[in-house]
Amino acid sequence: MLKLEKVKKYFGGIKAVDGCSFAIAPKKITALIGPNGSGKTTIFNLISGILKCDSGRIFLGDKNITNLSPHKISNLGLSRVFQQAHLFDNLSIEENMSIAIDNEDMKFVKNLLGLNRISKEKKQKIKEALNKVGLEKSPQHLCGELSYGQKRLVELARAIINPHRLLILDEPVAGVNPKLREKIIKILKDLEKAGETVLLIEHDMNFTFSVANRIVVMDAGQVIAEGTPANIKNNKQVLEAYLGD
Ligand SMILES: Nc1ncnc2c1ncn2[C@@H]1O[C@H](COP(=O)(O)OP(=O)(O)OP(=O)(O)O)[C@@H](O)[C@H]1O
Ligand SMILES: [Mg+2]
Repeated sequence: MLKLEKVKKYFGGIKAVDGCSFAIAPKKITALIGPNGSGKTTIFNLISGILKCDSGRIFLGDKNITNLSPHKISNLGLSRVFQQAHLFDNLSIEENMSIAIDNEDMKFVKNLLGLNRISKEKKQKIKEALNKVGLEKSPQHLCGELSYGQKRLVELARAIINPHRLLILDEPVAGVNPKLREKIIKILKDLEKAGETVLLIEHDMNFTFSVANRIVVMDAGQVIAEGTPANIKNNKQVLEAYLGD
């Protein structure tokens, strides 16, 4: 579903991503883990086209998406939740979702014509996506009034509503309370059952080991291990990367 071949990205002397190759299987949840600064978010920025690779290739399905624009890659089926929140606090849940559905050209035209009312059909679509994260009851709620964890749920719903083949989530439960973490595990498991393919970055090992089928471990810009949660838990190189020297 997604394949990286010897992908490289340096920032001056910093080898953020240094020849990474890995592939993720369809209809599974894969976790990308590694210590702070190991290159995980940079990988996401390369996959989504926000950053250009110095070298190497990235495939989404059989399409070579290396260095295409973020807009093109999104249209080819990539949907993303960012490490930092990206919601408009002064808009309602529904309005934030609505913005995700419109593409850039439509947004411009609608604003120009003052046609920003949300259609019935769109409301229904939004409701279905919110249903998947358990937020369907109060679509009119202002995002600014939501808890941090609830905002993450809106962001997840927004990634889901955007037509996609692959969902990439950068630290979906960082800063989220334990109860809501459990809920997000359930939501992701349900998405997997429904046939979604997910790649996520996460530091919380309990979460990662309970949600992922496969784990890719990075350290200093390189993939140092790959396998099932059970393999990874007992991998000496992984333990060393985390415990440091
Ligand atoms: N735009 C940039 N300019 C310069 N250096 C950068 C840039 N983005 C990332 N880096 C550096 O590249 C390295 C990898 O950063 P990245 O954000 O990919 O790590 P990460 O694995 O996501 O870390 P974390 O777990 O803390 O989110 C770090 O040394 C970081 O400081
Ligand atoms: Mg990061």
